[in-house]
Amino acid sequence: MRDWLKREPVVITSGQGAVLHDVRGREYLDANSSIWTNLHGHNHPKINAAIQRQLKKISHSSALGFANEPASLLAAELVKVANPKSKIRNLKLEKVFFSDDGSTAMEVALKLAYEFTRRTRGKPAGRASSRAAAPKFLSLGGAYHGDTVGAVSIGHIDLFHKAYSGLLFKTDKVMSPYCYRCPFNRAKPERADAREYRKCNWECIGLVEKKFSAQKRRGNAYAAFVFEPLMQGSAGMIPQPGGWLKQVTGIARSHGTLLIADEVMTGFGRANSKLKSQKSKVPLLACHDEDVQPDFLALAKGLTGGYLPMAATLTTQKIFDAFLGEYHEFKTFFHGHSYTANQLGAAASLASLDILHTTPSIRARQKLEAVLRAELKTLWPLPNIGDVRQVGLIAGVELVKDWRTRAPFALRERAGIRVCAAMARRGVLTRPIGNVIVLMPPYCTTPKQAAKMVSVLHDAVAEVFRAG
Ligand SMILES: Cc1ncc(COP(=O)(O)O)c(C=O)c1O
Repeated sequence: MRDWLKREPVVITSGQGAVLHDVRGREYLDANSSIWTNLHGHNHPKINAAIQRQLKKISHSSALGFANEPASLLAAELVKVANPKSKIRNLKLEKVFFSDDGSTAMEVALKLAYEFTRRTRGKPAGRASSRAAAPKFLSLGGAYHGDTVGAVSIGHIDLFHKAYSGLLFKTDKVMSPYCYRCPFNRAKPERADAREYRKCNWECIGLVEKKFSAQKRRGNAYAAFVFEPLMQGSAGMIPQPGGWLKQVTGIARSHGTLLIADEVMTGFGRANSKLKSQKSKVPLLACHDEDVQPDFLALAKGLTGGYLPMAATLTTQKIFDAFLGEYHEFKTFFHGHSYTANQLGAAASLASLDILHTTPSIRARQKLEAVLRAELKTLWPLPNIGDVRQVGLIAGVELVKDWRTRAPFALRERAGIRVCAAMARRGVLTRPIGNVIVLMPPYCTTPKQAAKMVSVLHDAVAEVFRAG
């Protein structure tokens, strides 16, 4: 906060496409899509028009006890997104619960999974106490799922979460597949993206299996396994090696554990690389790239195209049915927010989904992914670039003291912050995660703009570490 008070803030006044303007008339590229929310660019004519049309009807009416048109239409569209044809198991995500942001979408999933498990699991055999043990959650090392108390409880980033430990409920964590810093990885450091990245015997999967088995032996198998599919965001942009997700979710299922997929960052085409088929609708969820269908799906950030705060948690009929009962049984899901199913957010979301399915948008995403991949290669010659990671349209670049040793900068050296400040001076805005610089451009970013984002990152790294 002291640093923030010392600096002159960048005060944004307007945006167009991938470009932001500030009060002083300066121009920036929005290289992290306004904290991972924006999909199609700022001031998009179709989303603007959809909101304006809705504004003329009504901006908001309560969804507590009532319904509204755009939110109902949106729910139907989200069910289509969550259940692509020819996919996956016979698990249909067909019930949609709206809330406000990524954190609340996760709170909803947690509370539903908790209560479903409590209601449907019998008391463990041989348990002396009449009370069944509370349903327990497992999530990944380094996990971040939001800043509300339930979401923080399943998070495992000490820097963010430790201060609140007294407030939280206890959850377990298991090793995430951070290959670059994995003690089991025997691949040698090299200077190329084509390097051998993972040389191991999937020891991390063995640890997952062990964790589930140990918990089952305690007579209280995990209620739910919580994960971000394909790429863990705030953990430091950590990509999962191909096949990891399929294997660990298979283990969870074999132990009777529900799956909660947090696609708050990865959803809506952000992390999908399988954009080949243009005949049918392309996948928009990361877990579908690995043919994984969760029991709960949390969506937020890009849902409205990055326009308005709105979120959704999808689940199955089976979970839904556990909350049905006579009035006096009070089985309902006791959860709701004032702005749940807000009409303006729903109108923006419907327009955003329409755009996502168009051929120009699909082509633009394919092109941008390829351009980013090519441009990011130019970073390798810099000695302070340790790792360059890309999944779809998400890139994380890990800064190190020396690529050979992979020695990390201490947080107090503020390496990531200094590089981002140097990028801002060159007209590119993003925000670091510790020593990792994030590039996550809006889908409308042109090849020239994408090249500028990377070249500015290159020059900023060179400047900051040349200065020492
Ligand atoms: C994977 C993931 N889940 C949940 C959240 C929380 O979302 P929000 O900030 O909208 O509450 C975030 C935010 O960065 C996130 O990256």
